[in-house]
Amino acid sequence: MLRMIVCVCKNVSDRQIRAAMANGADTVRGLRNELAVSTCCGKCAPQVKQMVDMQDMSAGQQMAAKVSSATQTTVRDAGVRLRSALYQSAL
Ligand code: FES
Repeated sequence: MLRMIVCVCKNVSDRQIRAAMANGADTVRGLRNELAVSTCCGKCAPQVKQMVDMQDMSAGQQMAAKVSSATQTTVRDAGVRLRSALYQSAL
């Protein structure tokens, strides 16, 4: 996989940033403290922010998928219980 340098001043790659985010440095400030990105010329700041935002979006989508799955299960269970109750009342 291709390694892309995001912060030229500090020679920090996209992989290093993703690894730091996975280890809890999931804000621009956290990445600044962890990897020293955006501490020199600052030209990498927009890209670092974009990576953080994309990570947040991804986490949000995963949460939405979990909620959706749980909702579908609840609705499916309610349907099964309703059919069962209707069947029982017909007997
Ligand atoms: S490119 Fe990141 S501080 Fe300069």
